[in-house]
Amino acid sequence: MRKVLINERLVEEQDAEVAYNDRGYNFGDGIYEYIRIYDGQLFTVREHFERLLRSATEIGLDLKYSIDDLIKLVKELAATNQVTNGGIYLQVTRGAAPRDHAFPTPPVEPVLTAFTRSYDRPFKSLQEGVSAVTTEDIRWLRCDIKSLNLLGNVLAKEYATKYNASEAIQHRDGTVTEGSSSNVYAVKDGTIYTHPTNNLILNGITRRVIQWICEDENIPFKEEAVSVDFLKQADEVFISSTSVEIMPIIKVDGEAINEEIVGKVTRQLQKGFEKYINSHSE
Ligand code: PDD
Repeated sequence: MRKVLINERLVEEQDAEVAYNDRGYNFGDGIYEYIRIYDGQLFTVREHFERLLRSATEIGLDLKYSIDDLIKLVKELAATNQVTNGGIYLQVTRGAAPRDHAFPTPPVEPVLTAFTRSYDRPFKSLQEGVSAVTTEDIRWLRCDIKSLNLLGNVLAKEYATKYNASEAIQHRDGTVTEGSSSNVYAVKDGTIYTHPTNNLILNGITRRVIQWICEDENIPFKEEAVSVDFLKQADEVFISSTSVEIMPIIKVDGEAINEEIVGKVTRQLQKGFEKYINSHSE
């Protein structure tokens, strides 16, 4: 039977319960991370938990765990559930308290929950590429925080699903920000363009891995936002995230990118990514 982590306890899935007045449930008042497991090992787990601690600080949530504490907890969960390939979702809310927008005084204990999922890597899509649609970015102005408030992202992804696309590429007044659950890149004349890491996008861990590969292999990487028009005329388009890795986009709003052929920079990054899976897993 699969277990779920609730604070520091591993609980049988069917016994895992949280309070009806948890602030995560009432307000989306919390933060999360999603970490990939390859061959039973956690990929870039330290980077993920560094980001979690940053998110906690940014929303004034006093997380009593260190990065090593968190790694120990999730490793135990992954081992108990015998996950070989898959992922771990972990979230922390500000805790359960009578519903009032302001933080509870005195503070209550944050509630940490985590669960695992087993699945194979999306090899077919990674090989062939997927399609995307563009949609206006209606989210708040702190997209750098990995917050539980995902309604804007949910609506964007649902829009993509409705139009048979894998991802919704969001833009603010025609400037591409990021996908509903991924970062977005355009390649033109061998240079990669992507939105700078500010309050308008999540600083993706996969994005960081891509930067490492670019440094290793001297691929020009420009943190410069592009327009939807530029994206559609790019030589290559791809997205990145913990779950989709480096995913080629071969169609945007029904318009072909590079005649729907996955480009060579994308392929080079995918290859480089394999090396990092081996060197950055523990
Ligand atoms: N999403 N931007 C957004 C809005 C995201 O939700 C994600 C990841 C990313 C990529 O970040 P990373 O490379 O660290 O996964 C960018 C995760 C997978 C999710 O919501 O499940």
